[in-house]
Amino acid sequence: MTDVVASKGVSTETVSSVEHYLAPVVVELTALHVNGKQAHWHVRGLNFEPVHELLDDVVDHAREWADLAAERVVALGLPIDGRLSTVAAQTKTPELSAGFQPSEKVIHEVIEQIDVALAVIHAAVEGLGEVDASSQDVAIEIERGLQKDRWFLFAHVAA
Ligand SMILES: [Fe+2]
Repeated sequence: MTDVVASKGVSTETVSSVEHYLAPVVVELTALHVNGKQAHWHVRGLNFEPVHELLDDVVDHAREWADLAAERVVALGLPIDGRLSTVAAQTKTPELSAGFQPSEKVIHEVIEQIDVALAVIHAAVEGLGEVDASSQDVAIEIERGLQKDRWFLFAHVAA
């Protein structure tokens, strides 16, 4: 019987590089998931309901995309670190304001969170192009989706 390996036809260097680019994506999307819920719970204002609902979409998508990026790394045979302590230590997202906040402020703060995630996602899109097309495809899918969520939020505060 032949040995079964974690990932067939993908070099150790490639797997390591995929982990290098996708691990920060998992961290920032997990942070966005947690902080997005905080925003969802505390938004206030005349347009409360659509913003409250939209923030839940952002949260759901961030969670799905964190899973997508994490499972790409795991599928290639490396572990991923999505522990709360790791996410808290590594995220570059700014602290959200505590407590109830007007919707415009909430939207600005969540867009700041999204922009932090988009920066590491774009670095993954660019870096993975030379590394592994399937992993780059994961990053591209996430980037496209998160840019759309950013637009949906931005449209509430744009002139
Ligand atoms: Fe809710």
